[in-house]
Amino acid sequence: MEKVNPELVPQKTLYTGAKMPAVGLGTFGSDHAEADEVAAAVAGAIRVGYRHLDCAACYGNEDKIGEVLQQAFAEGVVKREDMFIVSKVWNDMHGDGDVLLACAKSLRDLKLDYLDMYYVHWPFPNYHAPHCDVTSRNPDSVPFTVERFMKTWRQMERLVDMGLTKHIGMSNMTIPKLEAVLPLCRIKPAAIEMELHPCFQQPELFEYCRNHGIEVIGFCPIGSPDRPERDKMPEDIADIALPEMKEIAAAHGVHPAVICIKWAVQRGQVPIPFSLKEKNYTMNLKCVTEDPLTEEEMKTIEGLDKNNRLVKGHVFLWEGAKDWHDLWDEDGVIVK
Ligand SMILES: NC(=O)c1ccc[n+]([C@@H]2O[C@H](COP(=O)([O-])OP(=O)(O)OC[C@H]3O[C@@H](n4cnc5c(N)ncnc54)[C@H](OP(=O)(O)O)[C@@H]3O)[C@@H](O)[C@H]2O)c1
Repeated sequence: MEKVNPELVPQKTLYTGAKMPAVGLGTFGSDHAEADEVAAAVAGAIRVGYRHLDCAACYGNEDKIGEVLQQAFAEGVVKREDMFIVSKVWNDMHGDGDVLLACAKSLRDLKLDYLDMYYVHWPFPNYHAPHCDVTSRNPDSVPFTVERFMKTWRQMERLVDMGLTKHIGMSNMTIPKLEAVLPLCRIKPAAIEMELHPCFQQPELFEYCRNHGIEVIGFCPIGSPDRPERDKMPEDIADIALPEMKEIAAAHGVHPAVICIKWAVQRGQVPIPFSLKEKNYTMNLKCVTEDPLTEEEMKTIEGLDKNNRLVKGHVFLWEGAKDWHDLWDEDGVIVK
């Protein structure tokens, strides 16, 4: 097994002064990788040198990952305080008392007494069942409202007060939603997780977060080639198949996936690539410690943005919503 010295992996400094490794391991099996397989990848990745794990209750594998963590700590592979471990409250646990229950369950499953970051996974309480297809709709789904979101955020803030998580964050937000809620936060989000890959760079949201001292975490950094069927549309573009990406990859002697990770870290976001394969997850970490992209290559990739959102979120739509664009406030106002 090849190892990467975690001290060589760049770090981001959160507004609290805490450090977050600039590459994390994704743990969503995209509805096809079994919990045991994902947990085995986590075990391998920790041994390779990963110190940042992107977990979530709805990925259905936190209990298995917890076993792996317990073993890694017991065997002295890594200390708890040297890991940055994340979880997320799923949409069916928003609201008054449920956030605390959800966090307690993730802590119990992961066998931890605190998290480093706890995100609100989606900014509304619209639950969808695992493995559902793109036409699936929950009749109880509702649009985002500031009141509902803040009820959940107040509980998130309590988790920090109680020491159950060091930081709190948001995911799948838009600038209009952030503009509405940030002034109301007693505890500001330390990071925002959002979809980011060369064909979907979200430059305005990226800059907005950075200007507000919030770190940007990029999910689907490789363009999620194995994403669930519900997130595949005929018009989607495969980042790693673009000729420019292949050319830059050839110049560095690596797979285009690796170029996605290098680009992300050099741009200033924290990618959280997923892989079950030791060779791939090792390279995804090692690549940020060597052979950086040139300024020209960075410029070429900047030019590949095609506003191609992959996780469109059809399954979260509420009755009366026009289509998935309504989830993303594209006209600059919150769609209700
Ligand atoms: N907050 C949210 O709402 C949200 C939404 C989606 C995802 N996420 C998080 O983001 C993580 C990453 O997103 P993702 O898993 O959808 O997609 P991704 O990381 O963009 O792509 C993962 C795919 O890329 C392949 N891959 C990885 N490294 C490779 C390499 N070096 N060479 C060639 N192929 C490689 C993997 O296949 P192999 O296994 O064969 O290597 C896997 O199929 C998730 O696991 C999850 O933790 C969060």
